[in-house]
This record gives sequence, C-alpha cells and structure tokens, in this order.
Amino acid sequence: MVFPKDFLWGGATAANQTEGAFDKNGRGLSNVDLMPFGEKRFEVGTGQLDPRQLPEGTVNPSRVAIDHYGHYEEDIKLMAEMGFKVYRMSISWSRIFPQGDESTPNALGLEHYRKVFQLCKDNNIEPLVTINHFDIPMYLVDNYGGWKNRQTVDFFVNYAKSLFENYKDLVKYWLTFNEINMVLHFPFVSSGLTFQESDNRQQITTDVIHHQLVASAKVTEVAKQINPDFQIGCMLAAGSYYPQTPNPKDMWKSILDDRDSYMFTDVQVRGNYPNYYLKQMEQKGLTIPFQTGDNEILAENTVDFISFSYYSSRVSSANPDAGNQTESNIFASEVNPYLESSDWGWQIDPLGFRITMNQIYDRYNKPLFVVENGIGAFDEVTEDNQIIDDYRIQYHKEHIQAMADTIEQDGVELLGYTSWACIDSISNGTGEMAKRYGFIYVDRDNHGKGSFRRIPKKSFYWYKQVIESNGANL
Ligand code: BG6
Repeated sequence: MVFPKDFLWGGATAANQTEGAFDKNGRGLSNVDLMPFGEKRFEVGTGQLDPRQLPEGTVNPSRVAIDHYGHYEEDIKLMAEMGFKVYRMSISWSRIFPQGDESTPNALGLEHYRKVFQLCKDNNIEPLVTINHFDIPMYLVDNYGGWKNRQTVDFFVNYAKSLFENYKDLVKYWLTFNEINMVLHFPFVSSGLTFQESDNRQQITTDVIHHQLVASAKVTEVAKQINPDFQIGCMLAAGSYYPQTPNPKDMWKSILDDRDSYMFTDVQVRGNYPNYYLKQMEQKGLTIPFQTGDNEILAENTVDFISFSYYSSRVSSANPDAGNQTESNIFASEVNPYLESSDWGWQIDPLGFRITMNQIYDRYNKPLFVVENGIGAFDEVTEDNQIIDDYRIQYHKEHIQAMADTIEQDGVELLGYTSWACIDSISNGTGEMAKRYGFIYVDRDNHGKGSFRRIPKKSFYWYKQVIESNGANL
C-alpha cells in the first residue's frame, strides 16, 4: 500500500468563490464582493483600479456564487458519498466580524460554521479550515487601510482566536493564509490592496507581507494556547520554476523566481527572514517594519506542516524579450514546449508536481499537505444530464500517480490531498463559472443564470473508487 492508511483524501473550496449569500445574517461587505466579472477584473486584481469605480451594471459573481451557504448540506452529503476523509474550506472573515474591528463576533456567522463542521463530523469528514482565503472586510480596508496598517494584525488575531475558541472541539487542522505569496501577484484579490499612483508600491507590499507573516505566527501562538493538539499549516502557491535553457543566467533567474515564493515559507517554517531577502531589501532601499518582539514571535511560532497548491510548473528566462509568455495561476511563465495546456493555457506537468514536492520537502523536512490541485475546463452536459469529463480524470490520475511516486520512491511525507475545487465554483482569476474544476457540476453560468442544481460528473465516481482503494485504483 503506497498511501498511508490514514491518508486524508478529499476536496477543497473557499468561501470567497462558493458561499455567495454576501449580505445574509449580518455578513459585512468583503473585498471579494467587489471583484467584477469581465476585463476589469484583472485591473482591480493588480490594485490599479478602485473596485468602487466600476461602471454601473458590473456583475460581481461571488456575491451569489454557487450558494454553498444555502446548499452546504447537499454539498457535504455528496462529498461524503465520494468517501471524503477531509474537506478543506474557508471561513468568510466578514461573516464572523462584519466590520473586522468589533470585539464581539456575529453569533449567526459562528452558528453557520458550527453546523457545517458538525455535519462534516457526522459524516466522518475532518474539516481543514483556511482562516483567510483571499478575503478581508471592506470596512477594514476603507477605514484602516487593511493590511497596510499594523492594527489589522490584532483584528485578524482576534478573529482567529474566536474561531479557535468556538470550534476547538470540531476542527483540528487550520491554515492561516491561503497562498500567502499571491499578494505579490494579485494584491486586491488576495489582501484587499489598492494603490495610488504616487505610492511606493514595493514598500507598501513589504509592509503588508511583514504584517501577514507576523499575523500568521501570532495566530499559531494563540492556537496552541487554546488547544495544543491543533495542527497549523502555512499555504503556498507552489510550482517550481525550470530554467528555459542551460544558460547559467536562466538557471539563476529560476532560483530567484522560486525564492520570491519560498521567502514566505522560509519565514513560516524556519522562523526568520532568509539572508537573501534581507539583502534584497537593503539593495532596494526597503525596510521591513519590525516592531519590538517580532523576531521572537516569528521564531517561536513556526508551522506544523506545509500545505500548498500545485497546478503547473513554470519556466524562467533571463532574457526579458524571450519567447511567449503564458499565465499559470497568475504567475507569468515562459511556455514550456514539452507540455500540453489546459483550455485556459495552464500547462499540465505531473512530473513537475513530483519535482515541486521534492523541492519543498528537501528544503524544510516537514510533512506536506497538497490542498489544491486540479484542472479548469469547459464541461458539457449531455441530453441525459451526464458530464463525461475524462480529461479531468486523466489530470487527477497522473497527479495522484506523481504523489504515489513521491511517497514510495522519494520518501516524502504527505498528509493528504484535497482537489481544487471539488465542486464547480467561481474562478478566482477570471470570475467565470465556465472554468470548472469540480467532481460535482453546478448549474450556473457566467451571467448568473441557472438552477444551482448539483450533478455528479463521471469524475465523481472515479474519485470515489480512488478513495475507496486508498489510491490503488487510479
Ligand atoms: C488558487 C486559489 O490560486 O487557484 C483558488 O487558491 C483558485 O482560490 C485556484 O480558484 C484556481 O485558480 P482559478 O483562477 O482558475 O480559479
């Protein structure tokens, strides 16, 4: 048996892309509610455009999404039918603290997630909870500057503390920030950041990164005080860079590109900023906004495991005019001629998955948890309501095989695998519904039309038997 017997098989979603119900039961407005569908989405994403300045009639798809808020019972039952051992999901911050700066949480928000976790438990599904998956109450952004302001660290710790206190009997596995390195690539989406033209963007980003890293460490400290058995993980948007050629300059560029991401986990896993980052800051004239005690907080509150998303490998070139650029999960990359691509141009590289897992494990020697992996594709519903998604089965089959090789041949410790997204949801990058990842189809389209009906796809039954056989029948 390749996979350990307690391997956590399951799937992942996030509140920002599934819940909808954006103004129900006291929930406050969140950055994700302002993300538009259409071309402007990317401009808002890069922080260049104020999302409140969008033309009338702009559609904000996450406000309704797939109404997981109203359909969670049906959705979790379907997950249970697939045999899920774990369900990765996130909590919407503004459902618990509508403004973000209150001292008392919203009881209705807390009650909702208690019901969700209880239902998971009743179905023998372990919840894996992302405390922050690309959302922040807009009140904090508008009145405090959000993550630009150190005070947000305290608001966030207070929010996390209330989750730990309320759910300590139901949830054991927690992730602090989803894809913490995404702030470099998608600042409004990931952290609610907008910039003025006169802003020193690099300095602001440096401040925000430090605030989030300190917040992550403080949350880890509080978690262990409340329940020493909690397992706390960091979460990285991973995918190793390959040099485009054996030219040492391309090789060096690939190391630098990888470091942009690994810097975050270097701090969260090792407990201090790496020297290469400190040197970079010095050379760029940037300052990390340290306060007294921050070094100790970072050093003493490292994570228990490393979780990450993997969709594709990437390619670096030292030549600024090199070849064709593609985008894989927002990270710019040269096109890899050896790989096929998805409908959205994301390149498919299962061996790259093994390479990435090995690189992370070699670097940190800590257990890994794959919390996102999947393929966004157009699905067709046949007249008799079937979705024959062999391409999705193929993708997962090859990636699960890569995990098996990584465990069996490389000795990497893997805790589990949660596919992204186990149920169709709003694409984070494009805002489309048509970019589908799920084993469960949801009848909604890009224009907000559809019945919300759930239909298991062919991959649903395939994944069920993968779990049943503990990864032996691929
Ligand atoms: C990751 C995110 O970046 O990739 C998810 O954590 C996201 O929120 C996923 O949905 C896939 O990206 P996209 O843009 O296809 O939705």
